[in-house]
Amino acid sequence: MKRHHVSFADWTKAEYSVILRCLLRASFSQGNYPAILSDRLAHYYAPSSIYLCNYGHHAIRIALTIFRRRQPARSKVIVPAYICPSVIQAVESCGLTAISVDIDDDLNLCPTAVQCALDHDTLAVIAPHMYGAPAKISDIEKLCNTAGIFLIDDAAQVVSVRSEGRLLGTFGDAGIISFAQSKTIVTGIRGSGGVLLINNPEYDVEAKQAWQMLPPSTNRLEALCDFLWNYVWSARTGNSGYYLSRLCNELGWRSQTTSACTQISNLEAGIGLAQFERIEMITQEKIRIAHAYHVALQQYPLIQFPQYAAERFLTRVMLRLPEQVDIPRLRTTLKTAGIETRTGYKAYLSPGTIATNAENLSQRLLEVPCRRGMSEAEIGDICSVVSHQITSQTKP
Ligand SMILES: Cc1ncc(COP(=O)(O)O)c(C=O)c1O
Repeated sequence: MKRHHVSFADWTKAEYSVILRCLLRASFSQGNYPAILSDRLAHYYAPSSIYLCNYGHHAIRIALTIFRRRQPARSKVIVPAYICPSVIQAVESCGLTAISVDIDDDLNLCPTAVQCALDHDTLAVIAPHMYGAPAKISDIEKLCNTAGIFLIDDAAQVVSVRSEGRLLGTFGDAGIISFAQSKTIVTGIRGSGGVLLINNPEYDVEAKQAWQMLPPSTNRLEALCDFLWNYVWSARTGNSGYYLSRLCNELGWRSQTTSACTQISNLEAGIGLAQFERIEMITQEKIRIAHAYHVALQQYPLIQFPQYAAERFLTRVMLRLPEQVDIPRLRTTLKTAGIETRTGYKAYLSPGTIATNAENLSQRLLEVPCRRGMSEAEIGDICSVVSHQITSQTKP
């Protein structure tokens, strides 16, 4: 069977041309691309304001810092119990407490659970659209408006998808987007790009001031090489990146990339621009692949695809497997059969909270390959192998 890898980025000649241009002009850090990308996004997301930085979670930090100044007595931020850990770190780095609430089967915040968790100490709600599936964001926005609580529309993983006619990222007071690996727009890894959208103009002056204080980004060539070698080309480079990094450590060459908040680099804004220009193709291809999985899985009722909906864009295909399946063992068998997989996030449970659905789901999710160009037959083969392995594991 052909080998199937999970996808970190959908890059074509357009993205590689930008890299070459930046190399030739030695303009990795600074150049015209950030201003052009910022203008394009501002036009697309109008009337929201756009501030480009290096990480999505730093955009969250900037927004929370502004909100905290307005409501210094409030210290809790509601987050889904199924969430990227960097969101929790962003909340805590602002001196705030992340309160987890349960999710629905689509892996997004359950509005009823949000409502139950709101109290006088709640500063904000962070509502992500997990793997691109739109959360019930308009309901959450109504809840926040009624309760006088800030809302961050966390569109880290999704660009160009609408809910009730509005682009995800534009609900609430602020929104964010990330350009890191496996998102909709991908420009690299570790600080390759993030966007702060200011949806409520009342906070625009403060956001602009915070953004203007950010230093320029540095050492992005190193992060790009890491991304290309260990992620985008990993099917060809295998484990060599691991040995290369050990060699670098032995030679005393330490990574220079920073986790501090900076502006976006010229290189990554250029790649982001190339991706944004292809956004329709990127999303249509993922819609096709998700649908092909849905069709193939009709034969295998043991495997669920909880985020699927007709015509829905998903950045990743996350399958829900039956309780009896030993997922680590299954992944090893699938790897031997040439199918690369990933698992979901571990559930985040803040002290004293219960999130049964998030706990159950997070342990049962398996990501299967979702790469541009996969055929329906290949997707059918993957589903058949996964199902066969599950059946052999669960046989009495
Ligand atoms: C839902 C969500 N929000 C925020 C972030 C943070 O983005 P970044 O990695 O660019 O900081 C992520 C990253 O995976 C995410 O998935």
